[in-house]
Amino acid sequence: MAGISKANGGPMKDKQLSESVALVTGASRGIGRAIAHRLATLGASLAICGRDRAALEDSSKSLQKLGAPVFSQVTDVTDAAQVAELVAKTESALGPINILVNNAGIGLFGPAHKKSEADWDLVLDSNLKSVFLVSRAVIPSMIRRGSGDIINISSLAGKNTFAGGGIYCASKWGLMGLSGCMMEDLRAHGIRVSVICPGSVATEFSGSKPKDPSKALSPDDVAHAVEAIVTQPPGSFLSEIHLRPLRK
Ligand SMILES: NC(=O)c1ccc[n+]([C@@H]2O[C@H](COP(=O)([O-])OP(=O)(O)OC[C@H]3O[C@@H](n4cnc5c(N)ncnc54)[C@H](OP(=O)(O)O)[C@@H]3O)[C@@H](O)[C@H]2O)c1
Repeated sequence: MAGISKANGGPMKDKQLSESVALVTGASRGIGRAIAHRLATLGASLAICGRDRAALEDSSKSLQKLGAPVFSQVTDVTDAAQVAELVAKTESALGPINILVNNAGIGLFGPAHKKSEADWDLVLDSNLKSVFLVSRAVIPSMIRRGSGDIINISSLAGKNTFAGGGIYCASKWGLMGLSGCMMEDLRAHGIRVSVICPGSVATEFSGSKPKDPSKALSPDDVAHAVEAIVTQPPGSFLSEIHLRPLRK
């Protein structure tokens, strides 16, 4: 499924990101959906993807209500061919991507020694390989234009370890390493690579909700951090944000 809707140019004009095209992966629900909404509110055109067609359509419709030009395509970000198609179609529908939010990811918890090889591949492909694939598809055009923001949604599980976190922590620690190296590779090209490490966020991540949502972050808290990154003046950047709920 691919769909595009063009805004009439009225409400989005003159907003801070009105010249921007943002691709947010995993924007059909949870954190990615909140990030896409925040960027649309700031005036960006939005490309979104996910695997569940109905959820993606629902997210696309709510972005259109904000007046944002939206391109949506069912995409599995672990598949290089699907990623290449997503990026090519986004750029022909909306223009060159100058904000990429690598958000799509999954959680799978329990002692690593009780997990299967398929579990390992699924989590590492979803949380780490996907960032490599999508970034690789987007970066050449950012380099040609000499600018861009890439924001990787990692986790405090990419900084810490805990029982039952083996495979998930491995994916997010790997993402921290990839993000840091991308940052150094790309800053000379005018591209800012940032990583956000949220603590527990009240979403349906890994099929469960936090026990006490009042002690968790909201998806909007993460969207606010993304806004801070993309609205930072061009000569500097927020390279790593650790985001925690106030109460624990
Ligand atoms: N929730 C937390 O406590 C928390 C804390 C720190 C960091 N994070 C990170 O934040 C990100 C978003 O998590 P969330 O809480 O918003 O989870 P969520 O509610 O489960 O949403 C995950 C999103 O990613 C998409 N997705 C997953 N695998 C995909 C794939 N292979 N291809 C395309 N899209 C895919 C999902 O859509 P489909 O299923 O339809 O594909 C969905 O839109 C993840 O990277 C997660 O590790 C979450």
